[in-house]
Amino acid sequence: MKAILISGDGQNPSDLYVGETPRPDLAPGHVLIRTRFAGVNRPDILQRRGVYPPPPGASPILGLEVSGIIDAINLPEPYGDDIGWAVGDEVCALVNGGGYAEFVAVDIRHLLPVPKGLSLAQAASLPETVLTVYANLMEHGSLQVGETVLVHGGNSGIGAMTILLGKAFGARVIATARGAAKCAFARDLGADLVIDSDAEDFVAAVKAAGGADVVLDIVAGDFFGKNLACLNMRGRIVQVGFGKESTVELDLRRIIAKFAILTGSMLRPRSPDEKARLTAKVHERVWPLIEDGKIRTVVDRTFDFADAPAAHAYMDSGAHTGKVVLKL
Ligand SMILES: NC(=O)c1ccc[n+]([C@@H]2O[C@H](COP(=O)([O-])OP(=O)(O)OC[C@H]3O[C@@H](n4cnc5c(N)ncnc54)[C@H](OP(=O)(O)O)[C@@H]3O)[C@@H](O)[C@H]2O)c1
Repeated sequence: MKAILISGDGQNPSDLYVGETPRPDLAPGHVLIRTRFAGVNRPDILQRRGVYPPPPGASPILGLEVSGIIDAINLPEPYGDDIGWAVGDEVCALVNGGGYAEFVAVDIRHLLPVPKGLSLAQAASLPETVLTVYANLMEHGSLQVGETVLVHGGNSGIGAMTILLGKAFGARVIATARGAAKCAFARDLGADLVIDSDAEDFVAAVKAAGGADVVLDIVAGDFFGKNLACLNMRGRIVQVGFGKESTVELDLRRIIAKFAILTGSMLRPRSPDEKARLTAKVHERVWPLIEDGKIRTVVDRTFDFADAPAAHAYMDSGAHTGKVVLKL
């Protein structure tokens, strides 16, 4: 099958090329998806560069989310006839790597239907981002109705979904972004307050707006101390990435004084059972909101499969607003 492979050290988008590789094995309890679209995420860029290696047992091929058609199913006994899925069904899924390929094998419990009314391109932009944001905002961050969320990079895949999910679950959302165009994008998604973090001190603006109960952060560095300054009593900081340095200075008295919780998590190393639990939860709680139009998709650009280098270069440039997907 065709897949996007990496030549050299992967430091440049031009190190990606279309090559031939064997189809993945289909272990019991797994389905083979004929990929139609694959979401491009920041972790793919990090993996290409060699700083985010795939976990043991995972496909070395890039790609964490896909949409496509079920091509084969391998279910051990005693599954009955009614397994909920059939060959030919349109699906989308979180995958443990291997998304940038013609075929990808997926644990059957990690499949999601294409939400009614959405295209396969839109569906491919959802699993990685929705599962990450749901887990971190609703579970680790324990977001409650009426609370205020602060998210940085409101133009990013994760940032945009945090705005959409936060609003859909009854929170007030404050977003930062860099530059007028990215701020306008975040405002258009429904953020209640948008701050240009290049032009303005976001701490003063967030405090003036009543502070934040949950901060979902992907920047770290000096933003860490600023996030803590914005945090309300009993607030939660959920760290899911770092655009700046991951090493920060912390006076623990600031955590104690605010009764604060500092946490974070990763999606990829979670066990198959844990991903199955999270997928079921997202299907139950988030899919209806998408089908009702309360959460929209934010596909910025679609690139042809062979143009994966251009897709990575586009994400590297930071010019994107929302999600980038590859079309197979
Ligand atoms: N923990 C998990 O399970 C998990 C899962 C998925 C993703 N992530 C992480 O989440 C982050 C976002 O992923 P994504 O796919 O949404 O990527 P993305 O669309 O490329 O978003 C990156 C965002 O971070 C902002 N940013 C980067 N450096 C910054 C800085 N120094 N100051 C201010 N803003 C900065 C960017 O702003 P500009 O556009 O202005 O550059 C952009 O909005 C990444 O760090 C990724 O590794 C974590």
